[in-house]
Amino acid sequence: TELDRSIQGGELFFTVVLNPNPCDDKRHRDIWSKEKACDRLPKFLVVGPQKTGTTALYLFLVMHPSIISNLPNPRTFEEMQFFNGNNYHKGVDWYMEYFSVPSNVTTDFLFEKSANYFHSEEAPKRAAALVPKAKIITILIDPSDRAYSWYQILPLKCLSPCPVSTGVTGHSTPARLTGMILKHQRAHQDSVALKFSFYEVITAGHQAPSDLRSLQKKCLVPGWYAVHIERWLQHFPPSQVLIVDGQQLRTDPANVMDEVQRFLGVSPHYNYSEALTFDSHKGFWCQLLEEGKTKCLGKSKGRKYPAMDSECRTFLSIYYRDHNVELSKLLHRLGQPLPSWLRQELQNIR
Ligand code: A3P
Repeated sequence: TELDRSIQGGELFFTVVLNPNPCDDKRHRDIWSKEKACDRLPKFLVVGPQKTGTTALYLFLVMHPSIISNLPNPRTFEEMQFFNGNNYHKGVDWYMEYFSVPSNVTTDFLFEKSANYFHSEEAPKRAAALVPKAKIITILIDPSDRAYSWYQILPLKCLSPCPVSTGVTGHSTPARLTGMILKHQRAHQDSVALKFSFYEVITAGHQAPSDLRSLQKKCLVPGWYAVHIERWLQHFPPSQVLIVDGQQLRTDPANVMDEVQRFLGVSPHYNYSEALTFDSHKGFWCQLLEEGKTKCLGKSKGRKYPAMDSECRTFLSIYYRDHNVELSKLLHRLGQPLPSWLRQELQNIR
């Protein structure tokens, strides 16, 4: 493990810079106890970004008999969040503990999904140091829709008194929305989100209060798709990176899952056309269980909320224009097809 030394308040501190794979070094392998199987590491990572359908992909993946996710981590909403944050400093042993020993190393595919890896500065470098052969799956939807979904509130109940928009831009939060809990942000301790309308968040200028600016960054920066994918490509060859169209995952998951299976090289081939069914009540594709029952994602996924207003849509289209152009160049370079939402956005530019 590569360590960084620093002196703070007269005390010497060590921080982990990079955790390489200990199994790559014979000296480590020789002294490891028998419980420490070198195979308790993921063969692939679903890296996000958030709100693009990562949980649906996760649910579909674990339906496959050879695909096994990590054990849930209760502290991070079931995600490992290892490569992007402080968990990284807990070391490789800690990470491996969350993976079961594969019964068949060749055919079992361990994986983890942490949706915040996508835009993390550190995650690609750290992942490449520990699991350089791992495949990387990212899912993209229109970044404007992603930002809006990220902001969305869960229509559960009204807090009293209901939070109100500051209204400085004249774009007050719709009444139905203001009174509701911002579950997603609330879960992440961003009570500040309660105060601002979506328009206020996306249009906040340099003079805006720091809490609003910070919220804006979290909302918009993951949508700089090309910037983040380029960072992953600095550490992983294009053949190890799959870019999934999240819009297609939503409407035609069986075909997307076929593509994912081919990319992973997993066997046996699992027939998602038979295993998934469209649940008209949920309005999404779900796992088909016995006797025609379905297992869908929970209430916080696939929520119903008003469509984005045209002013926000136009603002975000312009905001993301250059990023989308860069993404189209990147996909051309990789020989990958452009998702329909991207083609649409590029047409709007002309
Ligand atoms: P909304 O809740 O805004 O509609 P993530 O899991 O990455 O947080 O993404 C959540 C989004 O996944 C949902 O956003 C929803 O649009 C999308 N999604 C795609 N397929 C889905 C499915 N089968 N069930 C539920 N949500 C799905």
